[in-house]
Amino acid sequence: MSAWLTKANKLRTTRLLSIKTESPTVKTFTFKDRLCAKAKPGQFLMLWIPGVDEIPLSIFHANEREGLVSVAVKKVGEATQALHDKKTGDLIGIRGPFGNNFTLNTGRTLMVGGGIGIAPLLFLVKKVAPSKKAKIVVAVGAKTRSELLFLKKLNELCGEANVFAATEDGSYGVKDVASNLAEKVLAEEKFDMVYACGPEQMIRKVFDQCEKRGVFTEASLERLMRCAIGICGSCIIGKYRVCRDGPVFNAEQLRTVKDEFGLWKRDFDGKRIRV
Ligand SMILES: Cc1cc2nc3c(=O)[nH]c(=O)nc-3n(C[C@H](O)[C@H](O)[C@H](O)COP(=O)(O)OP(=O)(O)OC[C@H]3O[C@@H](n4cnc5c(N)ncnc54)[C@H](O)[C@@H]3O)c2cc1C
Ligand code: FES
Repeated sequence: MSAWLTKANKLRTTRLLSIKTESPTVKTFTFKDRLCAKAKPGQFLMLWIPGVDEIPLSIFHANEREGLVSVAVKKVGEATQALHDKKTGDLIGIRGPFGNNFTLNTGRTLMVGGGIGIAPLLFLVKKVAPSKKAKIVVAVGAKTRSELLFLKKLNELCGEANVFAATEDGSYGVKDVASNLAEKVLAEEKFDMVYACGPEQMIRKVFDQCEKRGVFTEASLERLMRCAIGICGSCIIGKYRVCRDGPVFNAEQLRTVKDEFGLWKRDFDGKRIRV
């Protein structure tokens, strides 16, 4: 069936059931959507804000039994500001879930999250942590203490001793960026898998470190998205379309886009711009 005819691509309207402030710039929004409630960590949805825009967002939490879905959204521009201004009961539109997901590795894993990038990783942690074989270490970074997200939940799921934090202004944890923090953790411990999500330059640095040490990586990439189903071409990186072939890419795939990944992306006119 053509991608645009699938059930996932059909726009469904739903109402915001709850809105929670997580930080001065981030809120989580919960709503009912039967299809996205089946999503796996790493997948994303397209959220339509009536009269404003439709934007891609990673699925932060999905509960199939209750049909509930949450997204964690950082206020950065017009659409995300409009969403932050919404109230419980307001109408939104949903397409999805789209894209692939992180593999569920229950060995020794390191999760590296920068800023809002920790949101899909927390969804992954929730799935992996219940396994007795799982040992999860987290390196999380943000500009400042108030923007360090979901620390309490991460501590609860992974154990406080396994959660390392960095802030750029030094207001919490070490005064550093997440990629440097990850480098220190990687130098001290051996991991089977590293998952990364956040600013692409951070992901690239983590990937380069892992390549040096022979550790396999999976990373979630962001590109501009319009259709979300592999048709419009706005999310291209190398031979891949991030919406269809990603957003999660493994080390093997990342090696093939090394000339672009962490260096270049395209704007809505298709022009190459520095990441
Ligand atoms: C697969 C994927 C998952 C994402 N998950 C999250 C998430 O969980 N939480 C979150 O807060 N943000 C997430 N984003 C980023 C989010 O889509 C943008 O912040 C949002 O679209 C910005 O819209 P705006 O109108 O508020 O800002 P604008 O002022 O329009 O844009 C601000 C910046 O956001 C990015 N952006 C704008 N439009 C798009 C678009 N259509 N597609 C991709 N990026 C865009 C651009 O880098 C732009 O410079 C994700 C993006 C992708 C591609
Ligand atoms: S967003 Fe259209 S091809 Fe990916």
